Amino acid sequence: MAEDRAYYITTPIYYVNDKPHIGHAYTTIACDVIARFMRLDGRKVFFLTGTDEHGQKVEKSAQAAGRQPLEFCDAGSANFKELAKALNISNDDFIRTTEPRHIKSSQAIWKALEANGDIYLGSYAGWYAVRDEAFYAEDELTRNADGKFVAPSGAIVEWVEEPSYFFRLSAWADRLLQFYEANPDCILPPARRNEVLSFVRGGLKDLSISRTSFTWGVPVPDAPGHIMYVWLDALTNYITAVGYPDTNSEKFKTFWPADLHMVGKDILRFHTVYWPAFLMAAGVAPPKRVFAHGWWTVEGRKMSKTDGNVIDPHDLIGTYGLDQTRYVLLREFPFGNDGDFSRKSVVNRINGELANGFGNLGQRTLSFINKNCGGVLPAPGARTEADAALLDQAYALPEKMRTEMGLQAIHQALQHWIDVVNAANRYIDAEAPWALRKTDPARMGSVLWVLAEAIRCLAIAAHPFVPDAADKLLDQLAVAAAARNFAAIGPQGALQPGVALPAPAGIFPRLQEPAA
Ligand code: ME8
Ligand code: MG
Repeated sequence: MAEDRAYYITTPIYYVNDKPHIGHAYTTIACDVIARFMRLDGRKVFFLTGTDEHGQKVEKSAQAAGRQPLEFCDAGSANFKELAKALNISNDDFIRTTEPRHIKSSQAIWKALEANGDIYLGSYAGWYAVRDEAFYAEDELTRNADGKFVAPSGAIVEWVEEPSYFFRLSAWADRLLQFYEANPDCILPPARRNEVLSFVRGGLKDLSISRTSFTWGVPVPDAPGHIMYVWLDALTNYITAVGYPDTNSEKFKTFWPADLHMVGKDILRFHTVYWPAFLMAAGVAPPKRVFAHGWWTVEGRKMSKTDGNVIDPHDLIGTYGLDQTRYVLLREFPFGNDGDFSRKSVVNRINGELANGFGNLGQRTLSFINKNCGGVLPAPGARTEADAALLDQAYALPEKMRTEMGLQAIHQALQHWIDVVNAANRYIDAEAPWALRKTDPARMGSVLWVLAEAIRCLAIAAHPFVPDAADKLLDQLAVAAAARNFAAIGPQGALQPGVALPAPAGIFPRLQEPAA
């Protein structure tokens, strides 16, 4: 069924006041890898990213910069668009919450909540953290070194008292628990799910969903002076992009509910408690899954502007290369865990796995064919046990990787790929085609064909991670564009002997080790 083959994946929409850093790049690359993987696997993908432009934080940042809010947002949003371009992100849409389509959609969901009896007027008196754009209960707060109240995130809170509309979140706790129960994989990893379950089991308070002490937001319909709470506006982006409020549109019917909202663990509660409650109250199905990944530190320390250790992804691309950056960020630690960025580790990883591992496998095989076979792919002979073992392992990649990617175990999917790279490197060493050149040229040809065929599969499977390098390698194997997908991994897509191959060129240069 076409619907089952559709796949909708989203990144968080990023606040425009921040300059993009490695954390934003990480989430977006992870989503890009998954989106490309699903396309390779024949699925109809809709991949969304964008920027979150309303609220008190953005308004304050614009004021501090001496700019009009929208002008400030235009510049901030452009930074994230440029980042997506620089990272070779294959998003199908880029949403800005200041766009008319989104204002319309946000006001429509408001009206749906209101019509359902889930909104009432009251007044909010309590704590608010502008940095998190979040309300906190007093018992969640602690004092920092300066004696100021801080949220669990470390953000300073301030006391707010103002008229406000509320969403009857308290009434949704049981239905949320039923939803989690009926959909065991709707929150991953499991530790995050448990965190959410215990939070909701502890009972939910009604949520303030409008603000009246500033103006930068979506106006609440028919309520002068009120603007929508930025998280209600922001979360709604995910349905705006598929056509909400037109729930009968082809796009909405094809892609909603979303298959995956990818987020960092900092915004888990918004996505797994508030968002499904809003949607259920509005009569819209909740997303199928929220995956909350872990947190990057840099050389063992929290990234912070004051410490000056914020990593700019453009610098990484300049230093290590684009595909190397994409690869290494996903490979450094298991997806879902927290991890640390260390230059030394990154360089070792790139040299070990990409330059010496995969790159060298391709380079030595293809330059050997170029030099010793007149640049023509030799024919395979009778298959030995070693040949069959390597090919079977390469042909099994889509199935193994599909299972892991379906659970966002991106590191496990990569591990299967690396296992085949290592197996192919062991095979070339054991079969030693350079020795066969004089003793058994036919067997040499056979070994080279098996290697080229394994490399073809490896390059296709690596494509979501390192798209440019994979395409370069597939060009060197003369693989047609239409055959660069999972359906072609297996004997049905096998390389044809006798084909002239273009001159080989390395794909992953060795990097200089950083000075200690
Ligand atoms: O929260 N390590 O936007 P935001 C890993 N606008 N990931 C990190 C990270 C780090 N050190 N720092 C940031 C918002 N991220 C809201 C979202 S969605 C409807 C609205 C990533 O600009 C991670 O994905 O603060 C995190 O969840 C996101 O950036 C927060 O981006
Ligand atoms: Mg943030």
